[in-house]
Amino acid sequence: MKSNTYSLAILISGNGSNLQAIIDAIAANKLSAQISVVLSDRSDALGLERAKKAGIETVILEPKNYITREDFDLALKNKLDKYSPDLVILAGFMRILSGFFVRAFKGHLINIHPALLPKYKGLNTYQKALDAREKEHGTTVHLVTEALDGGPIIAQSKLSIAPGETLESLKKRTQLLEHHLYPEVIRWFAEGKLEVLPQGIFFEGKEIPFGGILV
Ligand code: GRF
Repeated sequence: MKSNTYSLAILISGNGSNLQAIIDAIAANKLSAQISVVLSDRSDALGLERAKKAGIETVILEPKNYITREDFDLALKNKLDKYSPDLVILAGFMRILSGFFVRAFKGHLINIHPALLPKYKGLNTYQKALDAREKEHGTTVHLVTEALDGGPIIAQSKLSIAPGETLESLKKRTQLLEHHLYPEVIRWFAEGKLEVLPQGIFFEGKEIPFGGILV
């Protein structure tokens, strides 16, 4: 039988610092949820070690064992279905997901992207922001749709780009924002504060503005 605890499935490919922030928020009782599974498409992802250390079940699904992207995504979906997650969280999961997968978890599938979307979709967001001499940078949590990094924005956190800012410093400062923002948005879901309806996303009954909630 499924427990009443809000269940998270977290998909990673690498370091897993966002995963760690979610683990820490749960341990500190700032987030009432359980991580039912951490799933990685890479067997060497450091995040797998973080999950194991926290006693969380891990699954590795390697793309090389599947002929097509759809085969992989179907296996991923079947695996996830076993855990009946309330929310599927992409946390540095470096794969584009098939339409059927995205539709299957519609409204329950979120991603964090290191830029102030809709600016700087895709990779190398820090370099792009520095090259464009942006004054601000930040991070976005959004619903995943079939449009890459293009789903409705739930929340953002911003910082001012400092004089002499380097790629490393910008990355470090943005990731610190992520580690606060992601557990916070997950908490809103877990507490039923966020509602995803066909007509929009609502926070405590009010439609959230384009650009999301600023945290
Ligand atoms: C994060 O910066 C996130 O925005 C992006 O991938 C990175 C993952 O970092 N999608 P980590 O694996 O959580 O440390």
